[in-house]
Amino acid sequence: MSVDLAVELGPLRLRNPVVTASGCFASGREMARFFDLSTLGAVVTKSVTLEARAGLPPPRMAETASGMLNAIGLQNPGVDAWLDRDLPWLAAQDVPVIASIAGRTVDEYGLLAKRLKDVPGIAALEVNISCPNVEDRGTVFACRTGASGEAIAAVTSTVDVPVFAKLTPDVTDIASIAAAAVDAGATGVSLINTLLGMAIDLETRRPKLAAGTGGLSGPAIKPVAIRAVHQVHRALGQVPIIGMGGARTAEDVIEFVMGGASAVAIGTATFADPCAIPDAVRGLVHWLRRHDEPSLARLRGIAGAPVREARRAREGTA
Ligand SMILES: Cc1cc2nc3c(=O)[nH]c(=O)nc-3n(C[C@H](O)[C@H](O)[C@H](O)COP(=O)(O)O)c2cc1C
Repeated sequence: MSVDLAVELGPLRLRNPVVTASGCFASGREMARFFDLSTLGAVVTKSVTLEARAGLPPPRMAETASGMLNAIGLQNPGVDAWLDRDLPWLAAQDVPVIASIAGRTVDEYGLLAKRLKDVPGIAALEVNISCPNVEDRGTVFACRTGASGEAIAAVTSTVDVPVFAKLTPDVTDIASIAAAAVDAGATGVSLINTLLGMAIDLETRRPKLAAGTGGLSGPAIKPVAIRAVHQVHRALGQVPIIGMGGARTAEDVIEFVMGGASAVAIGTATFADPCAIPDAVRGLVHWLRRHDEPSLARLRGIAGAPVREARRAREGTA
């Protein structure tokens, strides 16, 4: 039985739904030694900022039960060096490139968008708004609807490619933040970034990370991620969602899709197993065949109908 893994994220069509999570795959060169990048749905690159950043001091990573804490601090070469050194190689591979950007001010997002506008080889942008907004006392952009909308609008008003807003789960109502991003022109949302966490070394009696706190990722956060995807899908219906947080296997990908994701990113799992993503793609084919399902897209959101659609159907306007 032939199965169809292709998915659509607005105007963007991917040959399969499994993509890399930003920051866990750099810009692809290292991973190309392990497998053919064209087996991926897309490569989502490490977030770049306007200027180069050295990142935070070590130790920057700590293992936790079923997960990992990191406080890398957006180390990156800056957008110009990334455009010169990394993008040309990646764009020559047979895989869509979703470029991730991050800023400290709304203006920085706008300037990054101008720098990346019409650059060949970029299929879409993922806007990491899960970082502190220096104009707003260091509160994270994606913790407020207003700040989220402003940062996203600064990008969508400039570029023509699809834009995905990457949100933090550390909020009370993630669906309202997602709605603000979509109202500001985002094609879809990426859910979720890491959760803020902390671990303490009993011998040194100090935090395990030099920065004190860091982002928690890996299997420990999967239920939080599935919940976020489900809530946003129920609220926003057809808006494309790239789900992530603890996904490792084909079964994890299916769970995200049933929750409402159109595509699924795998991040932390690739540190332990660089081939986790191509293995998950192969596993999807087996899973669909075993369950007599001709296409993955049919399973999207099957775990719960979007509220708006269900209401329209009840009212006879669907
Ligand atoms: C080491 C590391 C670096 C990360 N860097 C970024 C980044 O630069 N930009 C971003 O949007 N997310 C970044 N993330 C978050 C991941 O893209 C992803 O949202 C999160 O780790 C949850 O997925 P996972 O459990 O599969 O890793 C990073 C995560 C890790 C573990």
